[in-house]
Amino acid sequence: MKVVIQSHAAAAVDVVVAMVARELHRNPYAVLGLATGRTMDPVYAGLVALYREGMLDFSNCRTFNLDEYAGLHRDNPHSYHAYMKRHLFDAVNLRPHYTHLPDGTAADLAAECLRYEQLISRLGGIDLQLLGIGLNGHIGFNEPPCDLASRTHVEELSPETMRQNTPLFSGPDQVPHHAITMGMGTILESGRCLLLATGIEKAEIVAGMIEGPVSNDLPATALQTHLDCTVILDQPAAARLRQTVAARDFWTEVKASPAPGRSF
Ligand code: GLP
Repeated sequence: MKVVIQSHAAAAVDVVVAMVARELHRNPYAVLGLATGRTMDPVYAGLVALYREGMLDFSNCRTFNLDEYAGLHRDNPHSYHAYMKRHLFDAVNLRPHYTHLPDGTAADLAAECLRYEQLISRLGGIDLQLLGIGLNGHIGFNEPPCDLASRTHVEELSPETMRQNTPLFSGPDQVPHHAITMGMGTILESGRCLLLATGIEKAEIVAGMIEGPVSNDLPATALQTHLDCTVILDQPAAARLRQTVAARDFWTEVKASPAPGRSF
């Protein structure tokens, strides 16, 4: 696991945007794994800005999102599909049929999970997977305690996650109880993982993810076992790391080398 610490959130976002852009430059046919959440908003804004400047072409790449709420139609403004359309899909030249999210309204959700899993395999797997982290250490919607080898499945959301997501809905009773999520096993098969965490409220869980033992009580710790995982943090999110590293600007290194940061 490599950890990149930037002094503020905007600089951490710039690193993620640069790394995704470089992946697409290197391989215009890349399969990108995408994440949702407030942390990701500025990442997509950055990618859209590069596209508008003519610096990025999404026409040949394919995307798979980590998760989708069960029971929400893709046109529901709270669905992750709608989120992706707002933040990325409608703003760049991604081909709609090259973008994939689980269908949370499928009549047979188990069959839908299998279909999603098989589609990822058929397209050769995910080259670069973007990740955020939930306050309880969930990745996608893999809630603790979780099976660290799981495949795409239906997950019951924890009360904490539902509380975290309530501000995004019109009321607590509107927050879905279940979601389809790629499993930790699915995520760990991605060629490369990039996890972004910003803000002091993520500091405790980030320290556990990086420095704690691998445990199904903190799903994100499974990323320690991935051969090519980079965690990008702002200074507040890095505040609880025991092996404290002074904030450094890795911008130059990120542009120059594929693996900036320190290794654990
Ligand atoms: C949701 C998503 C996760 C995301 C998490 C964090 O639970 N399913 O993929 O990492 O939110 O969201 P935020 O970035 O808003 O803190």
